[in-house]
Amino acid sequence: MNKIRPIEENVGVRYADRKENLLEWLYQLRDRQRQHQRQGAWLIKGRDLPWENNRQGKMKWFLHPALDNTSIRSMIVFEQEIPPGGRSGAQKIYTFERLRDEFGTFTADHRDGLGHAERELVGSRYREILRELTAIVSYQWKEHLERSALKGFLFHGAVGVGKTAMAKRLTYELCRRFGDNGSAERSSDEVVMILVDGADIARGRYGDTEEQLRDIFKYARDGQSGGHHRHDDDPRRRTVLLFDDVESLFLTRNSGGAKEWHFSQNSIFFHSIDDLDTAHTAVILTTNRIDLVDEAIVDRFLSYEFAPPPVSVLEQVACEKAKLQRFTEEDLQPVLNAIRAPGAVKSIREIERMVMRAYVDKLLKAP
Ligand SMILES: Nc1ncnc2c1ncn2[C@@H]1O[C@H](COP(=O)(O)OP(=O)(O)OP(=O)(O)O)[C@@H](O)[C@H]1O
Ligand SMILES: [Mg+2]
Repeated sequence: MNKIRPIEENVGVRYADRKENLLEWLYQLRDRQRQHQRQGAWLIKGRDLPWENNRQGKMKWFLHPALDNTSIRSMIVFEQEIPPGGRSGAQKIYTFERLRDEFGTFTADHRDGLGHAERELVGSRYREILRELTAIVSYQWKEHLERSALKGFLFHGAVGVGKTAMAKRLTYELCRRFGDNGSAERSSDEVVMILVDGADIARGRYGDTEEQLRDIFKYARDGQSGGHHRHDDDPRRRTVLLFDDVESLFLTRNSGGAKEWHFSQNSIFFHSIDDLDTAHTAVILTTNRIDLVDEAIVDRFLSYEFAPPPVSVLEQVACEKAKLQRFTEEDLQPVLNAIRAPGAVKSIREIERMVMRAYVDKLLKAP
């Protein structure tokens, strides 16, 4: 509890011992208060407040709720960074903290130059892809290649084989490389991934799709301020721009579903891609229907095919998920049997579902 300060402590003289009369004393008090006000914090500008990365996304607080020694509570106001198309910041912007929640912290071991996270992607093929992607993006960012012909990557392959997971893991690796450890006081150290759900903007759910696309690229370039308060010498954050499941967004011209507005959408996309600052941005597209994606899109990106993982990888994923659910070998056996049946399981997501199903069955059977 805060005690009430006795006047003596404040003034330095016992009230009864003061030499001046009450009026003089009040003037002195007034002068002291004026001085205090001159020295105290009057105004903190939004741009001077630190960003906080939490599960809700990126926020800055005008008065943090965790401060417990202020009497004013009415100023608990926050500003949150919500990218265009985001329903809330939580869903669409991946900061260091969020990625750490997903993959765990990095352990000391990095023999191949890559970090090793606690919940690492399983499989040597994934490791190899991650190594290539990291090398390419790091090079362009470190060497300030602003106008590189290489704008980014196209991940294609079946459902649930780690395309989206790879984009996140790459971003996490780039955080490590570029010194973003979550404190991110300098936006020049910050690396974020912006996830754009292809189906969401294709549907025009958040307004005009063309406008959305323009906003997204602008946001990736300038961040929250939308360029209004930017100065050319401001540090720029680095962004991985993920367009997830793009088949409905960039339909091929030949497909029956392609309408005129697809062309105008595609042309805005091309324009933004051609304009992209590759020293600070990398674009990733994912799809499991590459046959539906416009060729001109396919041509502009470096393609990676995500093949169905081999049985050994599926087994290892099953074992790791099972460990989290505290499975015994006996609990896990049926899942492993299913994996080993030829051609039975094709995706990692399916493994996760099977382990979850086995877990629920087990706990429902428990006495
Ligand atoms: N190499 C891996 N090791 C461990 N877990 C993985 C790996 N790849 C993917 N996963 C997990 O499998 C699940 C499915 O992966 P993800 O969502 O990335 O698939 P996707 O290819 O994007 O699928 P879709 O085409 O449906 O979007 C996720 O929970 C992801 O974390
Ligand atoms: Mg995906």
